[in-house]
Amino acid sequence: MKKIAVIGSINMDYFIESDILPEIGETVLGKDFFLSIGGKGANQAVAAARLGGEVSLFGSLGNDENCEIIVKKLKNENINLANLQFIDDQPTGAAFIELCNSDNRILVVPGSNESTNDAYVERMLSAILQHDVFMFQLETPVEMLEYLIPILYEHRKTIILNPAPAQALPQELIEKITYLTPNQYEYQTIFSTEDSMEMLLGRYPNKLIITCGAEGVRFFDGKEIVLVPSMKVTPVDTTGAGDTFSGAFAVAVAEGKSLIESIRFGTIAAGLSVTKKGAQTGMPYRSDVTHFEKKKEHVHESEGHTQTN
Ligand code: RIB
Repeated sequence: MKKIAVIGSINMDYFIESDILPEIGETVLGKDFFLSIGGKGANQAVAAARLGGEVSLFGSLGNDENCEIIVKKLKNENINLANLQFIDDQPTGAAFIELCNSDNRILVVPGSNESTNDAYVERMLSAILQHDVFMFQLETPVEMLEYLIPILYEHRKTIILNPAPAQALPQELIEKITYLTPNQYEYQTIFSTEDSMEMLLGRYPNKLIITCGAEGVRFFDGKEIVLVPSMKVTPVDTTGAGDTFSGAFAVAVAEGKSLIESIRFGTIAAGLSVTKKGAQTGMPYRSDVTHFEKKKEHVHESEGHTQTN
């Protein structure tokens, strides 16, 4: 199978759960507090590895306690960590996540993720180029993407960018990306436009893939806008659902599945992931997805259908 490289952020996530969120200047009592490994890069790497991808994670950690906890956990995930760098004068990235009624609000302090920069990827270039499918997000400096993506494009690599947290991107960069996966709140920021979802999807056939939460995922196949519906689940915590989608999507692409099959695989994995608290806790293994697909097929067959979508 093709090799996947995730080049991105690694965080310690600090979760606080409450029934209401405080207003400015107000104090409210929370219900629960816990730590969990996160960062969009690490999350996508874990999602892809659990689903059977051959994954390397490139990124930066501070030389601190959080780094030790994170590395210990990631070592259990069958991810190649040989190219991580450890920074003395920056703390490991941290995210402060407020969970309220199964919704979330996230504040990220990049810390050592700032060091996943162009100088780092330049040093790692020969290791990077041994991979085929690349996943990026926007919690690391965009200058790194501006340096590396043109090189990967020249080498005809598959480049997936999950543009979160959203920021405006230069058109030359967008042109070189194979698949761009913003959510319904991010896509206008990325393109610096107020154009509608339909207009933008039409402009980027089989490339712009917009995740629309509980509704599903939309893309333009060259003829029409296709909606791949989300799984119907009652979410416990949606943190990391987008990352699970991205990781699963990358695995399916690496396995040579079609675009629609890859999106479908991503929606199943993301649907299964939201049933537990914490970004990585609920991320499914390949056997979970296979089990779900078989169960669904069985239901369709017993209803007299043969279709599996
Ligand atoms: O996408 C979820 C992630 O966003 C969290 O794990 C947090 O670390 C932030 O990066």
